[in-house]
Amino acid sequence: MSANDTIDQNRRDFLYIATGMAGAVGAAAVAWPFIDQMRPDASTLAASSIEVDVASVTPGMSLTVKWRGKPVFIRNRTPEEIKAAQDVPLAELKDPVARNANLANDAEATDIDRSAGEGKENWLVMVGVCTHLGCVPLGQQGDFGGWFCPCHGSHYDTAGRIRRGPAPENLPVPAFQFISDTKIRIG
Ligand code: FES
Repeated sequence: MSANDTIDQNRRDFLYIATGMAGAVGAAAVAWPFIDQMRPDASTLAASSIEVDVASVTPGMSLTVKWRGKPVFIRNRTPEEIKAAQDVPLAELKDPVARNANLANDAEATDIDRSAGEGKENWLVMVGVCTHLGCVPLGQQGDFGGWFCPCHGSHYDTAGRIRRGPAPENLPVPAFQFISDTKIRIG
């Protein structure tokens, strides 16, 4: 297999991930050049950040982008999904820690501290890798309407918090920020 074949294969993989989701075209167009440019230098790739346009991701829709070789889920949550997560007492959580790289290590896993924060609580940005053994969970599935990992049956809620199954921790929230009303920088 030539180097070009490898690149094409990777490009197909990325587009496959992206095109399954609403709003993917914009993200693919934005995110791919960053990844492509940095491919020759793995250390640069590891340090890279990506910018994602989420203008077309309306409430109830999700987008998956690739960042540092991992899928990142971006979900625009509905009011019902937000309320479902807000209504869960912290004492019921298997992992009470926010796991949010934008907050202190001991921040609690309240809905607001799992989300993009005040005024942006509809947005959830998480690394889409199951904290059990690393499978990619499926969205809008499972007993809590969030994500379900079919590998060994881990159920995450609408804030990406582990609620049932073998996974020990909530899905991690990467360092990210809104750099405009519709654009997120991850990393
Ligand atoms: S890898 Fe997800 S439940 Fe095991």
